[in-house]
Amino acid sequence: MATLVSVGSGKGGVGKSVIVASLGAALAHAGRRVILADLDVGGANLATMFGVFDAPHDLDDFWARRVGTLGEVVHPIATRLGLIPGAGETLATANPSYGAKSRLLRALGKLEADIVLVDVGAGSGFHALDFFLAGEIQVLVAVPEPPAILDAYRFVKLAGIRAVSRAMPGRSADKREVQTGSFEDAQSLLEGLDTAPPEVRDRARSALERVKPCLVVNRSAGRDIPIVRLRQTVRKFLGGELPILGNIPEDQNIPRAVQQFLPVIDAYPRSAAAVALEHTTSALLARIHAMESPTVRTPNALEGGVSPYIVA
Ligand SMILES: Nc1ncnc2c1ncn2[C@@H]1O[C@H](COP(=O)(O)OP(=O)(O)O)[C@@H](O)[C@H]1O
Ligand SMILES: [Mg+2]
Repeated sequence: MATLVSVGSGKGGVGKSVIVASLGAALAHAGRRVILADLDVGGANLATMFGVFDAPHDLDDFWARRVGTLGEVVHPIATRLGLIPGAGETLATANPSYGAKSRLLRALGKLEADIVLVDVGAGSGFHALDFFLAGEIQVLVAVPEPPAILDAYRFVKLAGIRAVSRAMPGRSADKREVQTGSFEDAQSLLEGLDTAPPEVRDRARSALERVKPCLVVNRSAGRDIPIVRLRQTVRKFLGGELPILGNIPEDQNIPRAVQQFLPVIDAYPRSAAAVALEHTTSALLARIHAMESPTVRTPNALEGGVSPYIVA
């Protein structure tokens, strides 16, 4: 079974695909079998990061059942690294049903890989939220600018609400309330379930507990990063901290690498961005290990060692 790592952001253009491409390449260099899945429905472009324009199959083929298994869609990129090119060339696949998404998520878990990295795409729509929530490790990417932080804040909040709403049955009045309400914190969100049966309340509470994002700050310039409010939201809404998984500086080697259709860690391995992405990869591997062996507490490179750029 592959470990599913989802990468979301709320706002587009913050560097998700750039980061997914480099993390994928670095994890493959580190000996893991990695598959990158472009689930940015309607805005798919991860394949272009590797100069892949003519893959024989993409996600559309899986959704339209033109292939027997999702494995047939995986396009080999490099040793131990494969890519599932995104879909969205038809209205139906740009707007997949809940059933189609569930079939895809089940198939992702069964892929022949150690790690599946999912680029969930921009926005806070149901698709992005559902793909993000599917991650056993959930990575939120934000740039240190107010609009991106605001979108990340909204994304976290909506992910929590979506997790609770999905745990509730069908068309109940409680569910409608969760979907239409605006909540200040987890308590007010769960209070709406007072009249729900205890098993529904328990399910909702544990669904909310499984929303545990960690943060990659991209394009940082050494100034203070305004994530205090984002951290408060996570604490209030999800009842946990927001660990920093990585901090990638602004670096012109990234657009240069994009122009060359290469992950920056391969094109400019000594650049500041590549070094930061290698650190982020180590931090991600530490999290994966900790998850795989919950009794052995693997020290997380970032726990207690928060970047000097971050003010909490
Ligand atoms: N750390 C960075 N430094 C400089 N430019 C960056 C950095 N991160 C991303 N970019 C630029 O931003 C563009 C958008 O990134 P992309 O990964 O496509 O965003 P997203 O997938 O979130 O929409 C990239 O093509 C790249 O040129
Ligand atoms: Mg993208």
